Amino acid sequence: MHFQWYPGHMSKAKRVMQEDMKLIDVVIELVDARIPLSSKNPDINQIAGNKSRVILLNKYDLSDDVQNQKWKEYFESQGYIAALVNSKKGDGIRKVNDAVITACKAKIERDRKRGILNRPLRAMVVGIPNVGKSTFINSISGKASAKTGNKPGVTKGKQWIKLNKSIELLDTPGILWPKFEDQRVGLHLALIGSIRDDILNSYSMSLNLISFLTMYYKGALAERYGIIESEDAVENLAAIAKKRGCLLKGGDLDLEKASGFLVDDFRNAKLGKVTLEFPPEIESEVLVEETDNSISE
Ligand code: G4P
Repeated sequence: MHFQWYPGHMSKAKRVMQEDMKLIDVVIELVDARIPLSSKNPDINQIAGNKSRVILLNKYDLSDDVQNQKWKEYFESQGYIAALVNSKKGDGIRKVNDAVITACKAKIERDRKRGILNRPLRAMVVGIPNVGKSTFINSISGKASAKTGNKPGVTKGKQWIKLNKSIELLDTPGILWPKFEDQRVGLHLALIGSIRDDILNSYSMSLNLISFLTMYYKGALAERYGIIESEDAVENLAAIAKKRGCLLKGGDLDLEKASGFLVDDFRNAKLGKVTLEFPPEIESEVLVEETDNSISE
């Protein structure tokens, strides 16, 4: 499902989320492990206020194992309780209960001191469209889960899913809008297929992807397509088109078609597990290296 965001959508989504925040103790934020920054809207910090925070790097089955760990550490360094999950297969889902309880430790302690024992923690899932919110909610609630139904007065119209004796989950997730203003964010969202393809053409998307892969995932294209990787993105795309037999009527290479293949292969992790964004510390190291090179040249 693809979304187009307009200011009206955003303010409605924000209003609904702000109302729901009053009902919960902890925000479970989903991001896409391949693009943890671009799939995250920083406005959630303001909306969540001082609620406890859990961040889940979802779809980690598609992203780079080394970067997954780095991102987890990065978010933990930012004060989140972080975990890797594959909502589709259920991997990592069990750890989410513990993550929620750890995130709410201070609240549980405060309740205990006030003599409130065993009050379930209330959680809400938030994230941008397509990040896997519904899949996650289905996965964590399982088939056996019973909905607790409306709680008159307090949670009118809201459905809660009882995950276990300690946690209840709001059954409707909060929808965040992506930060389109940054071109790179738009490119990354389009590459993972979370915004409509027609916003960016697949040719320019694939050239960007090729440049990134030949720099950070050397050999991935060679392995998938049997090409000799060059430093020139268009040359690589032409080599892929040749190998895949993408030809126009007159016999010229059909680079548009080859681009489509490439982007599909990336989305399905056929080029291997790839993460498109590195945690800020790593990015600054990369920048330093690049700066050093340019100075020495
Ligand atoms: P949303 O509520 O946040 O909008 O997202 P939703 O759950 O609808 O998930 C969007 C797509 O992401 C779905 O694929 C879903 O199967 C897939 N997905 C969710 N979590 C994971 C995960 O951890 N790993 C992988 N690989 N995929 C995940 P779809 O193409 O829309 O449907 P389908 O392919 O499942 O039929």
